[in-house]
Amino acid sequence: MRVLKVNLADGGYPIHIARGALSNPALLAPYVTGKSVAIVTNETVAPLYLEKARASLRLLGVEPLIIILPDGEAHKHWQTLQRIFDALLAARYERHSVLIALGGGVIGDMGGFAAACYQRGMPFLQMPTTLLAQVDSSVGGKTAINHPLGKNMIGAFYQPLAVIADTDTLTTLPARERAAGLAEVVKYGLIRDLDFLEWLEKHMPELSEGNLELLGEAVYRSCQHKAEIVARDERETGERALLNFGHTFGHAIETGMGYGAWLHGEAVAAGMVMAARLSAKLGWLREEDVARIVNLLASAALPTEAPGAGDGMTPERYLELMRHDKKVLDGQLRLVLLRAPGEALVTRVEDETMILESIETSSRH
Ligand code: NAD
Ligand code: GLY
Repeated sequence: MRVLKVNLADGGYPIHIARGALSNPALLAPYVTGKSVAIVTNETVAPLYLEKARASLRLLGVEPLIIILPDGEAHKHWQTLQRIFDALLAARYERHSVLIALGGGVIGDMGGFAAACYQRGMPFLQMPTTLLAQVDSSVGGKTAINHPLGKNMIGAFYQPLAVIADTDTLTTLPARERAAGLAEVVKYGLIRDLDFLEWLEKHMPELSEGNLELLGEAVYRSCQHKAEIVARDERETGERALLNFGHTFGHAIETGMGYGAWLHGEAVAAGMVMAARLSAKLGWLREEDVARIVNLLASAALPTEAPGAGDGMTPERYLELMRHDKKVLDGQLRLVLLRAPGEALVTRVEDETMILESIETSSRH
């Protein structure tokens, strides 16, 4: 068992990372004993892990309300959120009841947003079951749903009581989803940790094949980065924006291609290549740095070419979608770029042609 802490003004919360954590009632006990508890999950995760979570709660004398949602990014919207509210209200759940989000980032983001809204805020726990959710989305309190015009556009900052990550759940994760999670892991190396980047380059073949011990290490090191950044900038007034490396381009891919067509991590991978190419155009990265990033992502079985004009994604369409980004300030686009591998910055790019050219070079032809 490894434990990290997200230090926040209100005391913060722990991140427990362990094999078998779902079956350890002691981790849940401080938050759920004597409470009404709802587990929000989906139809894919339920048959795999719901019984484990429910058994742990039963050992604590808690019989949870179960809310099973349809699976997928395409369901991350108001109508699905309403199903959570319907179930909580029908069961007369109160403001002090506890919601547990058991699943990947979609369930975590939606469950967290439902918790933020229900009776103006009910406590919630994150029990992430995908690599992406364990390394990124379950930590830091960003909760949201999508809007047809933009990814994660409707949401709230709302922190969980704790994150309980059972790395054994990664054994059932399909390879494509594992790769998607590795994109966010690579992101931490690229934006702030050259040693970690080198470690990833060394171990990517085993990580990509699902070596559980190494994946556990990747979860721990990723959460260290996330916890440190969130503790310093909970509401993204500065440094936290660096965690969006590759995301402005990536969100454009997800929205433009239709939610779910490209996995979030796949879109981020292709987005990081675009951002790297733009960083090279600005004279910060060398061509060999860009090649290094492309090679690492390719070795994780991630896409390194973004959708192109043939998919309806012309450079101009990208730019139109990117203008909905949450980093837009006073109408001006800001991007996270690399000054060097392991060092990121947020910057305005005055010359739009450079952005368009970087998109064009990184897209399928
Ligand atoms: P996901 O939640 O859609 O999960 C991926 C797939 O794996 C789903 O089909 C899911 O049902 C299935 N699954 C989950 N756990 C499984 C397991 N253990 N075994 C087998 N299958 C399993 O996708 P994701 O990649 O986890 O998360 C992506 C979402 O996270 C996006 O909506 C993205 O916007 C969001 N996100 C949020 C943050 C944040 O800070 N809040 C950060 C990054 C990404
Ligand atoms: N995933 C970006 C953030 O949490 O800020």
